[in-house]
Parts: sequence; C-alpha cells; structure tokens
Amino acid sequence: MATTTGAAAELIPEDPTLDRLRFAAADCKACDLWTRATQTVFGEGQETASVMLIGEQPGDAEDVEGRPFVGPAGKLLDRALQEAGIDRGRAYVTNAVKHFNWSETRGKKRIHKKPNARQMAACKPWLETEIQLLRPTVIVLLGATAAQQLLGPSFSIMKNRGQLIQSSLAPHVIATVHPSSILRAPDDESRESAMAAFVRDLRRVTPPLRPRKAPGRSGALGRAGRGPGQTVRARRRHVGGRRSAR
Ligand code: URA
Ligand code: SF4
Repeated sequence: MATTTGAAAELIPEDPTLDRLRFAAADCKACDLWTRATQTVFGEGQETASVMLIGEQPGDAEDVEGRPFVGPAGKLLDRALQEAGIDRGRAYVTNAVKHFNWSETRGKKRIHKKPNARQMAACKPWLETEIQLLRPTVIVLLGATAAQQLLGPSFSIMKNRGQLIQSSLAPHVIATVHPSSILRAPDDESRESAMAAFVRDLRRVTPPLRPRKAPGRSGALGRAGRGPGQTVRARRRHVGGRRSAR
C-alpha cells in the first residue's frame, strides 16, 4: 500500500471549522512525515484569536505531547511573548508543517530536521485553511520556514525581520527569527541580545492588538475582552482616556 495519498488539499473538509480541520489532519498521510512521527500536532488556541503565531514544525516534545511549542523553544517563546505584552492564552499557535521530522538521535532526544520543499507544499493547505478560518489581525512568522511557506522561497528573514510586510494574509504580518535560534546562541551575552531583538520585533505588532475606543461612544472599548495583546498596563493607559498609537 502506498504511504502517501496526495497533497493535504484533498483532506480539507468541505465546510471546515477548526475542530473539523483538526480532526481531518489527525489522519493526514499526504507526505511521508507521518510515518516517523507520533501524531499530527495541529494548531492550538481560540477561534477568535486576533494573533496567529506560526513556527516551523513540531519538535521532539511537541510530537510526544501533541501540542505546538511546548518544548524548550516554546518556553522561550512564552517568555518573549510575556515581555512583549502578548497573551499566549489569547493567541493561536501553529506550525508550517504539522508532523515532526527527524533523522538522527542524540542521547534520547530525536534531532529535528528541516522539512523539504515537497513536505512543505503537501502540508500547506492545513495552514492556509487555519488562516482563512481565523482571519487574524496579526500574523507572526517565526523563522524562515514559516515565512517561506507563506511568502515564497526567496523571502529573507535577515533582510526583513521586524518590518511590517504587505500581504493579503492579514492586515499586519511580521517575520522574525525562530525562538530556537536564540537557544542556539553561543554565549549568554549573544543570547540576551538575540532575545531583546526578538522581543522588539514582537512589540511591533502589539499596537493593533490593543482594544480601541469605538469612535463617538465614550467608554465603549472596541474589542475589549478579546484583545490578546492587552496588558494590564496597556488597558489602564487606554481606559485612562489617551488614544493609543495606531
Ligand atoms: N519549533 C517549532 O517550530 N514549532 C514547535 O511547535 C516547536 C518547536
Ligand atoms: Fe500531512 Fe503535513 Fe503530516 Fe505531511 S506533515 S503527513 S502533509 S500533516
């Protein structure tokens, strides 16, 4: 029996919801990656999330747990989001490719291997449908694989990191480094400066996530209660009556 059944597009439900999509993706065999992985690691978060964070693919820990960004890179991402004032609990977190890819082991740990172009293309329909369903205000592309999956293979993180990118994907799209690149920094000093630069990039997209006053209605907050970038400080500043930067 063949191990692949064609691109994931064939498996997208006709009338998709996030739950239906997740259910369908659990059985995906559209590329060879499912054979060595434990399970599909689908995106996680609220359907109403305004910010979508997209990584490369699940790692060793994510493959075992079945949830995105729960391993060392996820812990670093959590810290950076907190510093940037983005609430992960109100974000949707996913990956460009939904199965862990690995080829060698180091001790007990399986070493992640970048997905190839064929695997990325096969998996893309899952991510595209997640974006269509969520219609986020902000998309954060974490690393080259995520950025190239959506913006094309010639997109350079080094040239474009931290800049707002014109794209039909969402009103605000930004690309930055992958958090695991910070974990790989050779010493404490470079790790700290890489972390600071990462947080700076993330802060670029917090203003559009803040709730805004509805024009002409005093006291009414635009998207109050579901603005994921909302920190206590930001909310106070907003409620205090000053118009937040746009
Ligand atoms: N790295 C990723 O790109 N995604 C994860 O979910 C975990 C690590
Ligand atoms: Fe399907 Fe993506 Fe897994 Fe390949 S990596 S089997 S396309 S879910």
